[in-house]
Amino acid sequence: MKDKVALITGASSGIGRATALAFVRKGAKVIVSARRGAELDELVKEIEADGGKASAIVTDVSKATEVELMVAHAIEVFGRIDYAVNNAGIEGNFGSVTDLLEADWDQVMDINLKGVFLCMKYEARAMLAAANGGAIVNIGSVNSFLGFPTGSAYVTSKHGLIGLTSSVSAELGPKGIRVNLLCPGVVDTPMHRRLRGIAGDDLYDKGLLPTVHLQRAAQPEEIAKSIVFLCSDDSSYITGSTLLTDGGLTLTL
Ligand SMILES: NC(=O)c1ccc[n+]([C@@H]2O[C@H](COP(=O)([O-])OP(=O)(O)OC[C@H]3O[C@@H](n4cnc5c(N)ncnc54)[C@H](OP(=O)(O)O)[C@@H]3O)[C@@H](O)[C@H]2O)c1
Repeated sequence: MKDKVALITGASSGIGRATALAFVRKGAKVIVSARRGAELDELVKEIEADGGKASAIVTDVSKATEVELMVAHAIEVFGRIDYAVNNAGIEGNFGSVTDLLEADWDQVMDINLKGVFLCMKYEARAMLAAANGGAIVNIGSVNSFLGFPTGSAYVTSKHGLIGLTSSVSAELGPKGIRVNLLCPGVVDTPMHRRLRGIAGDDLYDKGLLPTVHLQRAAQPEEIAKSIVFLCSDDSSYITGSTLLTDGGLTLTL
């Protein structure tokens, strides 16, 4: 991936951070974005200390003007975008359908679903303008397929990404840009640790993890490798697809 540029949203933490480092290991330059600038600056320093090239831009993916600036920043700094990973997401607040606040529903949709639409809108414009092809990976979840009580907002946002990814793939495929959805299961990140805190250790250790064929959570680096694969030429005939990286969880629930 030498001379290629990858843009990663939600790179201040968890899967996004690991993905930025994975691209750098493959020789790509990276644009890292999220709302927390200090974490991004630290990541850029770490990458540069190892001889890699990176640039940070603070972005809230739910705001079109900020997303447009993020893409403009990538073009200004590195001149192109070859790969885009739309990973930023929140679990939001959980609540039964009778109690969930409209504001909580809106926040999850704005970040997890509208945010991915906005990112693809500006990323695709830049890729099409450059006419070099490209690859986009959106981050769904096992909850792109499975619901759970109190999870209607998160689950709906992740289900929506299947339709969004498939539609945009159909639009961009003829122009040489592949678009896929990667769906992780349980990944050991700050989000996972927050959810574990809500559900309780017992539910995780005795309820959820035994349903995973591999009997453990993924490390973010394992998910990052699959994301890099979906951007690389090794997946040149994969588009409009969903790749489950869940250690077998979905099939056993
Ligand atoms: N961990 C799991 O078990 C798991 C399983 C399935 C799917 N996923 C999905 O994987 C993705 C990454 O999750 P993670 O586990 O790595 O969680 P995480 O550690 O909480 O990281 C989430 C990232 O998203 C960023 N983000 C949140 N809201 C944003 C916004 N409005 N604008 C820009 N960036 C925003 C956060 O950065 P700032 O706070 O700095 O903005 C952070 O960098 C999410 O889409 C999540 O739904 C995770």
